[in-house]
Amino acid sequence: MIRVGFYQFCPTFGDVRANLHKIAEAIEKIRADILVLPELCITGYLFTSHDEVAELAEPIPGPTTLFLENLTRRKHMWLVLGMAERVEANDRSSLRCYNSAVLIGPDGLKGVYRKAHLFLEEKLYFARGDTPFRVYDLGIARAGMLVCFDHFFPEATRALALQGTQIICHPSNLVLAGKGQQITRVRAMENRIFWVLANRYGTEERNGKKLTYTGASQIIAPDGEILAQAPPNEESLQIIEISPSAADDKHVTAMNDLFQDRRPELYKAP
Ligand code: ACM
Repeated sequence: MIRVGFYQFCPTFGDVRANLHKIAEAIEKIRADILVLPELCITGYLFTSHDEVAELAEPIPGPTTLFLENLTRRKHMWLVLGMAERVEANDRSSLRCYNSAVLIGPDGLKGVYRKAHLFLEEKLYFARGDTPFRVYDLGIARAGMLVCFDHFFPEATRALALQGTQIICHPSNLVLAGKGQQITRVRAMENRIFWVLANRYGTEERNGKKLTYTGASQIIAPDGEILAQAPPNEESLQIIEISPSAADDKHVTAMNDLFQDRRPELYKAP
């Protein structure tokens, strides 16, 4: 059994120090093997210009990942979180920012995933991700990362599941009421995998724009059961025990193995 969880909180826009302090304080209190935090939880989400993103985004590795590595090394745990990543090219005109997820563990930074399916105005401020969906062997479990809107694209989850992913770590800032919670439950069920959805809560209002996030972070079992769920509008730190190998059995009935029964030869348009 391993201990997995989420920390649902309300990041303060633009205040990297305050957000890191909040995360550190939460981690200090817990004993977990894998903890998932929300999307863009170091900076906040509601950017209103590319310059603003470029200002607050950081290289990976960079100050934020180094700070968090100190925690994961000392606590001997894995952390998955969403953060704005800045990739410097030779000149500022080719600077790119990604809405990324990072995987940091007892030995430091292990992986970066750049969000492939951008939502709403993210398309104006971030570059589309260019990292393939890949599974990471953490020793205690095999984990894959998705960021928020990626859940709407079943191929992304399937790509991770077919590589042997047992747990999807899903930093999110969901805004469509109830949708993400339902969809991720179905994705877990149809791939028979665990799913840790770490959503944020609260409202951001900036330069005439406003978004309200839906909270209700959840941990789903391979059979679709909700193992843990946060309230919609308050801070919540929840950790439960799971057995990742339960995700290796793809049977839904004695005669139906969901991966063996696939018919990929029929899925391509003629
Ligand atoms: C989202 O992708 N932040 C909804």
